[in-house]
Amino acid sequence: MKRFRYRPPEAMCSVETKETLRRLAREARRYAGRLAAALFFAVLAGLGPLSYAKALNPLFNDVLGASHGALSVAQRLRELWIIIAFLLAANVIAAAAQYCASYLTAWSGQRLIAEMRARLFERIVHFPLAEFDRWRQGELFARFEQDLQLMTDAVSISLPQLTQNTVTFVGAVIGMFVTDWRMALFLFIFVPIVYAAVARFSSLITTGTHRAQESIADLSSTLIEALGSVRTIKAFGREQHELARFTNRNEAYFGSYMKLTQLLLTQPGVVSILMLVAFLAIVVVSALEVVVFQRLNIGQVFQFWTLVVLASNPLNRGANFVGDLAKATVGAGRIFTVLDAPVENPAAPGAQRLLAPCGEVSFAEVSFIFPGTEEPALRQISFAARPGETVALVGPSGAGKTTLVNLIPRFYEPTGGRVMIDGVDARSLSLADLRSAIALVPQEPQLFGESVEENIRYGRLDATPAEIRRAAELANVTEFVDELPDGMATHVGERGVRLSGGQRQRIAIARAILRDPRILILDEATSALDSHSERLIAQALDHLLAGRTTFIIAHRLSTIRRATRILYLEAGRVIEEGSHQDLLARNGAYARLYAVQFSGT
Ligand SMILES: Nc1ncnc2c1ncn2[C@@H]1O[C@H](COP(=O)(O)OP(=O)(O)OP(=O)(O)O)[C@@H](O)[C@H]1O
Ligand SMILES: [Mg+2]
Repeated sequence: MKRFRYRPPEAMCSVETKETLRRLAREARRYAGRLAAALFFAVLAGLGPLSYAKALNPLFNDVLGASHGALSVAQRLRELWIIIAFLLAANVIAAAAQYCASYLTAWSGQRLIAEMRARLFERIVHFPLAEFDRWRQGELFARFEQDLQLMTDAVSISLPQLTQNTVTFVGAVIGMFVTDWRMALFLFIFVPIVYAAVARFSSLITTGTHRAQESIADLSSTLIEALGSVRTIKAFGREQHELARFTNRNEAYFGSYMKLTQLLLTQPGVVSILMLVAFLAIVVVSALEVVVFQRLNIGQVFQFWTLVVLASNPLNRGANFVGDLAKATVGAGRIFTVLDAPVENPAAPGAQRLLAPCGEVSFAEVSFIFPGTEEPALRQISFAARPGETVALVGPSGAGKTTLVNLIPRFYEPTGGRVMIDGVDARSLSLADLRSAIALVPQEPQLFGESVEENIRYGRLDATPAEIRRAAELANVTEFVDELPDGMATHVGERGVRLSGGQRQRIAIARAILRDPRILILDEATSALDSHSERLIAQALDHLLAGRTTFIIAHRLSTIRRATRILYLEAGRVIEEGSHQDLLARNGAYARLYAVQFSGT
């Protein structure tokens, strides 16, 4: 194995760590009542082990008679039973208290984590698309899996023991001072040494955990991408290539995890050796106290040694806890970065409502540049679609057709100009209202792993089965679904894998029909259909388009002809605008496209 190379953690790390801890403490404040109760029980539990130290002195000196006190046999036996009863009672109470303390701490911790998990999900579904584009899926996935797990480990294993160990430790230290303050003071020489060692390890563990978490996120991304591209991998025979990619990341994760493990394993060893040295020093000093100075008796020495052992156990655990806490803080920090990412607010206060939209859509000098790119995807687009009008967007691939329609439901915000709905800037409208006025059939229809019926219902959750059936008929879904043994209850498979492309498209159209929107956006929604189904869909579209403002991105003449207005886009610009007849008469780019593409039809 490679040796662990010492790298000082970045200066930023400790600042971030402190901020993260502060924030965690703020979050935990909601459970203050439970945590206070846990603290009380932990104090009780922590006192339990100290009972041994308390019992040792009388056991040695009175019962066994190591001291010169003259007690009768009966007195000594009575003392013995009292001590036994005391030890039993103290430790039964301590065990019960430990259960309560651990349960309450674990409950609060797990509750905090469950809420963070839910908030993480809530945050991610409200990411604006521009933010979503920035994240790899595996990065987000790792937040749910590994980063939350780091917190879970700390909260359910280490944290419950912490308070209790602290109590035992503090009690043992007090006991030492009471028993012999000179020896206790002598022990304090070792405190700064142990502290320095623990602090150094904890910052190394923080850095190591950061690296490990980044590499597991990498690994998850590779996995998710491969799972989503299985057909391409097989078609190109790239199984080995993918395996190599995966193995690389897998090994990188293994390496970073083992480095972290080395640290985590070295730390308790170093700490316990430091403590052994301290203990041996105490053995020497106390032997001198008994033999040379005769200031202590054997019972006191045993009591002191027991206290040292009692104090060293929590210290060991405490050192482990510092490691766990460092890891959990890294996990929490990574989760906070997602929680702090910008989100859309569907119901922003003060936003203008759009309760009865007419469906007028106009663009005024709209430009759009994707974040992180230089070239504008849209340049100064201006047009106005009257309510109920059907607008066809035509143009070469990459012209910006999908980008243009994505600005209508505010998937992205224009970088220049304004998109207006019913004459109101879309930015000032309530996002929830805006989107409920729109139905979109995307270029690649997205189905959920449920039944056909549920997938259509997604358009309007309170739709009746009869309404769903009607939408399915209009979109020509019933034609193939009725052939299936389970009919509308047929499960479509994950992301709809059990259906053909055209079938998926028809379900997506049915979903849009069911939504009954004012504004309808069809992004090449009929591209995967044969001409027979397309004709049927075209009829359905006639019903569907009536009275709605519709944007159709299409390559088929039959669909384009239905449009009252055609926008011809090239390189992010509208270069021609008009009806089919107008544009043919103009004999420009549209006419050329028409000649090439549709001359046969
Ligand atoms: N998320 C994105 N981030 C950066 N650039 C993007 C993004 N999506 C699209 N683009 C770029 O914007 C331009 C327009 O893309 P768009 O998807 O709007 O084209 P399109 O006209 O719909 O093409 P097609 O007919 O092939 O669907 C392209 O050059 C593309 O590379
Ligand atoms: Mg497109």
